[in-house]
Amino acid sequence: MKITAIVLALWAGIATAVNPGLLGLENLTQDLLRIESVREIKNVQRTYAQLAQHGRWNDMADLFADNGILRWGKGTGDILSTSDASSVTGRSAIEDWLRQEAGNMDGIKPGSIHVFMSDMPVITLADDGRTAQGRWTALRKLGDGKGATRIEGGIFENEYVSSEGKWKISLLRYYPLYAGNYEKGWKNLGANGSLPVVPYHYTLAQAGVTLLQTERASTTAGQKGNLKGRPTPAKLSIEELEYRVAHLNEEDEVRNLVHGMGYYVDRRMWPDVVSLFTQNGTITVQNTTSPTGPAGIQSVLNRMGPEGLSHGILNEHPFFGTVVSVSPDHKTATARGLEIGLIGDSNARTGQWQFCVFHHSLVKDLNTGTWKIQDLKHHRLLFADYATGWGNGGILPASSVVPPPILSPYYQSAPTANRRPVSWRPFFKRYPAWEEPKESITSRLANTHRLLLRSSAYDESENTSGSYGFYIDDIRCSDFAKLHSDRGHKLSPGIGWYYTPDAISLSCSSRYYRQNSTSYNPSMSSLRSSVPFHWRLQPVILVSQDGRSATLRTRNLQTGTSRTQGNNGWMGGMYHDQLVLEGEKRKLWSITIDEFYWNSRNWTTGWANVAPASNTTVTSKWWLSNISKYKRQSDNLPPDVSLQHPALLERETGFNGGPPPTISWPGVQRMWWAYRNLVTGDLPSDNSYWGPPGCVPCRGAKPEWALTANGYQEPPSGPTTVTADWLPDSGVDIEVTIKGGPKETAKGGWVQLVLSFDGEIGKFGEEGPVGDDGKVVLRVRGPGAFGRTIPIEVYYFGNENLKPGKGILVGEA
Ligand SMILES: *[C@@H]1O[C@H](CO)[C@@H](O)[C@H](O)[C@H]1NC(C)=O
Ligand SMILES: *[C@@H]1O[C@H](CO)[C@@H](O)[C@H](O)[C@H]1NC(C)=O
Ligand SMILES: *[C@@H]1O[C@H](CO)[C@@H](O)[C@H](O)[C@H]1NC(C)=O
Ligand SMILES: *[C@@H]1O[C@H](CO)[C@@H](O)[C@H](O)[C@H]1NC(C)=O
Ligand SMILES: *[C@@H]1O[C@H](CO)[C@@H](O)[C@H](O)[C@H]1NC(C)=O
Ligand SMILES: *[C@@H]1O[C@H](CO)[C@@H](O)[C@H](O)[C@H]1NC(C)=O
Ligand SMILES: *[C@@H]1O[C@H](CO)[C@@H](O)[C@H](O)[C@H]1NC(C)=O
Ligand SMILES: *[C@@H]1O[C@H](CO)[C@@H](O)[C@H](O)[C@H]1NC(C)=O
Ligand SMILES: *[C@@H]1O[C@H](CO)[C@@H](O)[C@H](O)[C@H]1NC(C)=O
Repeated sequence: MKITAIVLALWAGIATAVNPGLLGLENLTQDLLRIESVREIKNVQRTYAQLAQHGRWNDMADLFADNGILRWGKGTGDILSTSDASSVTGRSAIEDWLRQEAGNMDGIKPGSIHVFMSDMPVITLADDGRTAQGRWTALRKLGDGKGATRIEGGIFENEYVSSEGKWKISLLRYYPLYAGNYEKGWKNLGANGSLPVVPYHYTLAQAGVTLLQTERASTTAGQKGNLKGRPTPAKLSIEELEYRVAHLNEEDEVRNLVHGMGYYVDRRMWPDVVSLFTQNGTITVQNTTSPTGPAGIQSVLNRMGPEGLSHGILNEHPFFGTVVSVSPDHKTATARGLEIGLIGDSNARTGQWQFCVFHHSLVKDLNTGTWKIQDLKHHRLLFADYATGWGNGGILPASSVVPPPILSPYYQSAPTANRRPVSWRPFFKRYPAWEEPKESITSRLANTHRLLLRSSAYDESENTSGSYGFYIDDIRCSDFAKLHSDRGHKLSPGIGWYYTPDAISLSCSSRYYRQNSTSYNPSMSSLRSSVPFHWRLQPVILVSQDGRSATLRTRNLQTGTSRTQGNNGWMGGMYHDQLVLEGEKRKLWSITIDEFYWNSRNWTTGWANVAPASNTTVTSKWWLSNISKYKRQSDNLPPDVSLQHPALLERETGFNGGPPPTISWPGVQRMWWAYRNLVTGDLPSDNSYWGPPGCVPCRGAKPEWALTANGYQEPPSGPTTVTADWLPDSGVDIEVTIKGGPKETAKGGWVQLVLSFDGEIGKFGEEGPVGDDGKVVLRVRGPGAFGRTIPIEVYYFGNENLKPGKGILVGEA
């Protein structure tokens, strides 16, 4: 068993790099429960929004704790004062209040609509794990079907409590910030048309603090006794821990796939969309299911228009509040959320709103270990012409189709028989069913810890991303700068990247502050008259093998507010970011916002009626309204890497501040991808691939800013493909090829052959490490295997830059 020992040593090596301390079952149990808690809390809030779309007030009230409080700001006086809010206590009073508040805009009465968006969570879980707070951005679009409409935007600062094993809302606290109707648009609700800063439940010192007590315990802050109140943890078995951590890992993969699919749809990259489905996949729209397979899927996609975006075509579909449910055996999953289509043809001056619920089914391909889409299911809430709006019931006949079921927000324990079988554990050698895994408890703990860190990295990245979003909305320059690593960098739109928090802070304050102040100056913001809300939505988060670094893509959906009704609109862009775990905090490493792909001129004209911009004019309304201001900023404070850097010529041409000519909406700008196809592993079909290194200025301009140049791993850019074939004229030797993306070597990772026949698993072939060329030749062993057609499973265990992967070779031995 010498070979097994080497395989284990490899993984133990990566895992111990994570945390030198020896972690026991208690430690991992405690941290697992913390991650599950944060996810349940998010699910509860997302479910609240989903139920509101269908007028299910009773079920919404059920999400509150006993004596839970709903405090809803009226927006008629001092927004921050409790006296300006309706406050109701207890489930039945809350239910009544919700019903009354919605009135005829309940999403049930024919033609009515109650669209509820709530996203960008920042969740802080108490040290004792029993209570939590959460900040969310919120927006509702309502209509009664008879012409009356409402638009309401604001911020939630909520509190949650764990009660009898379930997370509940103990205080739902809504601060209204802007409101209006469809006809005229919205405006600020604050006194004199200003907007106060909604108090934060977290301080800068807390921002980004890791969820994991084990990580905190190993830092100075943790040792200083910052972990007081830590409960005596329960102790789950190693099998239970491995199973539940795997469950979280699967959920991350599913969420990425669903969110990633959406970006392909936005760009009408039809071949990429089709490639995410199973061979007999389908699309179901309003209970009508397409023919199965690629042709059937394509036929539905064609209804959205031809492949690719041409001048003036907008096909945005932001997703909000995705809840994912993975089956106990980890073979199937469902994802439910809200999708809003912002559809436009600027050439024809037409635009449309499409409000849909999605309820997608996914399955795990057991041959490759990757998730795929089985059925992409859409349920229409309402479609409306931009010109007339959503107040009159929309342009399609009222739907009688029953909305898809709401998923449970809670993790339910499943009988062992229904669970993922132990033999699926992908990171260790595969054993015959009758044999106990031979790994030592120490290496199993270390590996479980590593996998736990990977899922916590997912939530922590979304969390720091949210903190950044809220700080940037309030233009807290020095605070969002301090969310960055000391070695971090950020793109200042239109200019270039600034390196270190100090430079990031200065580049922001010199641009947006009236006086030369590097610290957060509330007077700048507390009487501000307009706020550009950055909705950092729909994350695709690729986490490194050791869980310490991550690559993050989020949408930037921006809505502005101001004193004037109708003077506000929308714009959309894309963030390409990276984050790292530094001490006890998850920090921003790299922020690139590739500027904007589209915008509306103002509320009335929408995105479909934007005058073509000249190539030097910046059209976006909020940040980019004044090019001379940027010129001044970059003269005084030159960026460390300019958008005009020669190494970034291809990447930045067309974006504001990049090499000319600038392409502004309704022109269609190229979109970049930091990851490969999440199912096939192929590069994006339009050749716009950037990674690794995933950090934008690291390629060519600043290689020394790359994660790998700073002791971090570069997250895998997609799945690992495993193919195998018999060596010619051999009959016993198999050549295995392992493939990641460009600059990702499979070298050093181990491969195992597993032969299954006569209903038995584990007539093993050889195992061995992958060479420089990504290949390894292994011999089939197994008495009784010869002369029969048998499937040979080929497992790749992964290395520092590639995930594990799996392939199947069916052939005659
Ligand atoms: C609103 O404007 C009035 C009149 O200019 C002024 O007296 C008052 O202080 C302002 N209120 C706030 C909250 O700024
Ligand atoms: C999220 O950030 C808050 C404050 O910024 C911090 O207290 C909390 O631990 C973080 N939570 C997660 C899940 O990372
Ligand atoms: C692990 O758990 C033990 C027992 O509860 C505790 O004493 C120890 O401090 C924990 N270690 C870490 C790194 O959290
Ligand atoms: C799709 O094909 C798989 C494998 O052939 C089969 O198990 C499954 O039942 C099929 N699903 C549907 C919805 O047709
Ligand atoms: C749509 O499909 C769902 C699930 O199969 C079913 O419950 C519902 O009754 C169907 N509705 C209509 C109008 O066909
Ligand atoms: C602004 O403040 C910074 C830091 O105090 C200083 O270095 C800089 O010279 C100041 N700039 C101007 C224009 O006053
Ligand atoms: C919106 O833009 C159009 C076209 O420029 C203009 O005619 C209209 O007055 C604007 N509306 C508002 C409320 O600013
Ligand atoms: C902007 O530049 C592009 C590419 O050079 C050109 O096709 C387009 O006509 C220009 N647009 C305007 C308004 O000048
Ligand atoms: C743009 O800059 C000019 C010159 O500094 C200034 O007068 C003008 O107010 C600025 N406009 C905006 C929208 O910031």
